[in-house]
Amino acid sequence: MAMQVTFLVALLLLPIHLLNARTVITSFNRSSFPDDFVFGASSAAYQYEGAAFEGGKGPSIWDTFTHKYPGKILNGSNGDVAEDFYHRYKTGVSAFYVYPKGLRDLLEYTKKKYNNPTIYITENGIGDANNSTRIKSIKDFQRVDFYHRHLLAVQEAMKLGVNVKGFFAWSFLDTFEWGSGYTLRFGICYVDYKDGLKRYPKSSALWFKKFLRK
Ligand SMILES: *[C@@H]1O[C@H](CO)[C@@H](O)[C@H](O)[C@H]1NC(C)=O
Ligand SMILES: *[C@@H]1O[C@H](CO)[C@@H](O)[C@H](O)[C@H]1NC(C)=O
Ligand SMILES: *[C@@H]1O[C@H](CO)[C@@H](O)[C@H](O)[C@H]1NC(C)=O
Ligand SMILES: *[C@@H]1O[C@H](CO)[C@@H](O)[C@H](O)[C@H]1NC(C)=O
Repeated sequence: MAMQVTFLVALLLLPIHLLNARTVITSFNRSSFPDDFVFGASSAAYQYEGAAFEGGKGPSIWDTFTHKYPGKILNGSNGDVAEDFYHRYKTGVSAFYVYPKGLRDLLEYTKKKYNNPTIYITENGIGDANNSTRIKSIKDFQRVDFYHRHLLAVQEAMKLGVNVKGFFAWSFLDTFEWGSGYTLRFGICYVDYKDGLKRYPKSSALWFKKFLRK
């Protein structure tokens, strides 16, 4: 009996839930933010450029560290090649605790504590395990949900007077993730390490494209 009741409730709630989600997603878009607000997708040079010892570049502290202590990085990986962005820049320009309200709270706290500074959010993202197929990985609906909810949190903070001027998704491509190497995927674009580092936009990249359309 209890199961039947639960099932019925679920049936009743599902369509309403979907309807709400759709309404919110279409009306929450680029125009919900000021014109001079900057959006982007970020990464750090070491985490995707590769070409660690080319073009006159000497070893960085991370080159030295990863080569000297491969055991410190999961799976012993390093950024020597990474996503090879250095050579390919022309072709593209797990479980974490997710708590969007925390972003709003942090923004409000920063406003109060540091006398209302201009704030750019340079990294906001979610990682998942590098152990799934490409087809499954690019359907990253949990990442779409993550960005949707975090951008709503940013907007709420701005309504409360926090001076946020930009938001950068972390990251553009799956990257070398410090202690985790390439065992995590963070990008809004999938990198196929087994097929010449080909890139595929994930659902999150397509969502952003739609979100940013004017
Ligand atoms: C963006 O949202 C506004 C409402 O906030 C809506 O009027 C507009 O049509 C939406 N734009 C797109 C491209 O969906
Ligand atoms: C992938 O890794 C995650 C985290 O370690 C684990 O929970 C999940 O079961 C793994 N999935 C597969 C298909 O191995
Ligand atoms: C990530 O996954 C790919 C494809 O399964 C594999 O080829 C690669 O070795 C993995 N990377 C690491 C560092 O585990
Ligand atoms: C570790 O790297 C090897 C190749 O060096 C790969 O086959 C394997 O899938 C990687 N393991 C994980 C957990 O990513």
